[in-house]
Amino acid sequence: MIFSPMTVADLDEVLGIERRSFPEPWSRGLFLHELKVPFSTTVLARADEEPHRLIGYVCWWMVGDEIQILNVAVDPEQRQKGVGHTLVALVMHEAAERPVRTVTLEVRRDNAAAIALYRSFGFAEAGLRRHYYGRGDHALIMTWTRPGFAADVAADG
Ligand SMILES: CC(C)(COP(=O)(O)OP(=O)(O)OC[C@H]1O[C@@H](n2cnc3c(N)ncnc32)[C@H](O)[C@@H]1OP(=O)(O)O)[C@@H](O)C(=O)NCCC(=O)NCCS
Repeated sequence: MIFSPMTVADLDEVLGIERRSFPEPWSRGLFLHELKVPFSTTVLARADEEPHRLIGYVCWWMVGDEIQILNVAVDPEQRQKGVGHTLVALVMHEAAERPVRTVTLEVRRDNAAAIALYRSFGFAEAGLRRHYYGRGDHALIMTWTRPGFAADVAADG
């Protein structure tokens, strides 16, 4: 796979996957907004072979010592081949390289695939945002905390 930051030129392809991945997909305007947010990063994964078709993407914010994952999606035809894992691993690598304390995200409570993916990286359920995605459609808050963080805080007094 080839990784690159998202640009305006990528938006048609990104929206193609986005619309096939979510009941309430992000709009073009929302992706354009993310491109202007200084603490937002969106990384695309493309196929190695020409014409380097878009396979998936991940968008996250880094604010202070926290990362928030805002969006992850993989082309429906390319799922269950490890792409989602690679995209989340990219964010976790970023967390490991910097003084990041927590990584958080919201996920539909019935999204078993995504929940399993995040659990495999050590994310734990940290709460519920009721009706977050609409009436009766709750979001699970999942958090990864840097190992040893709680102990470090205690040691600092
Ligand atoms: C969630 C999503 C990104 C996973 O991408 P993917 O490329 O299929 O995931 P991977 O092949 O890397 O799988 C990684 C792990 O995710 C979990 N997983 C993926 N698909 C799964 C499925 N259909 N059922 C259960 N677990 C699944 C497994 O734990 C898997 O590890 P394993 O293969 O060792 O069992 C993808 O299904 C997707 O784009 N869904 C629609 C958008 C979405 O829901 N995004 C998350 C928003 S919070």
